[in-house]
Amino acid sequence: MDSRKLRARVERLTDLLAAPDVVAQVREVANREQHSAEQLADAIMADPALAVRVLRVVNSGFFNFPQPITTISHALVMLGTDVVKALVLTAPVFDLFSRVKGLWLHSLAVARASGALAEALGYRDPEELSLAGLLHDVGKAVLADEAPLAVRQVQSLVQQQKMPISAAEQQVLGFTHADVGVWLLQRWNVPVKLTAPVGGHHQLSTVREYADRAAIVHVADVLARAKAIGDPGDQLLPAIEAEAWEALRLTMDHAATAFDALDALIDELAQGPKEPVWTERRVS
Ligand SMILES: [Fe+2]
Ligand SMILES: [Fe+2]
Repeated sequence: MDSRKLRARVERLTDLLAAPDVVAQVREVANREQHSAEQLADAIMADPALAVRVLRVVNSGFFNFPQPITTISHALVMLGTDVVKALVLTAPVFDLFSRVKGLWLHSLAVARASGALAEALGYRDPEELSLAGLLHDVGKAVLADEAPLAVRQVQSLVQQQKMPISAAEQQVLGFTHADVGVWLLQRWNVPVKLTAPVGGHHQLSTVREYADRAAIVHVADVLARAKAIGDPGDQLLPAIEAEAWEALRLTMDHAATAFDALDALIDELAQGPKEPVWTERRVS
């Protein structure tokens, strides 16, 4: 498939999904030099459906809070302005997650492992890494929606030739789900610290800015695969790239902390399924 054509379709899809008025208003408030959390919360709650969607994602287990977060103001306190803003921008895309079997659980695992690694490595904003982990494979959901025939070809290469999904996508499409994720998020002006891990999680050498964040999501992806939570798109277990060990000064202790977080998630899932992030109505 012609990459320009697909990119145009992704952009059309993002425009269809977005709720531009509210998002523009939220951005306007957030960009004011002085703004209160209350003003930002008011701007989000101007669209109650959007506020509900954001809270649904916040409470779906990605961030591992013990108590549910019931208001946007509470979410702003717990997650910080940047994460809530990014959730507002990306909220519509979560409805696409249901189109790919096992993607949501895989994303949940990568979000948890990314957050745990960030915390173990001393990051002050582990929730931002959780969000990057949550979004890392969002391109797969878009491809399933926009290029189903190509996705079927990719799946047969993965199954018959035991190829990694990104290599199969490269062969069939000339680009990967990581590229598609970046197209989508860039269109919505999601900040680079979130798009870099999405674009580089399978190929750290391509990342210029925020390489450490891409490395965290890459490691989290490998660890989530090792624990077999959800479906990562192929059955392979890649090695953690040397660049990731170096960029993060990663130790086995860090990896063990992330494994513990994934074991806790497995226990939670055994107690009952988590509520999905998507709503049943079709949005496009
Ligand atoms: Fe991926
Ligand atoms: Fe993944």
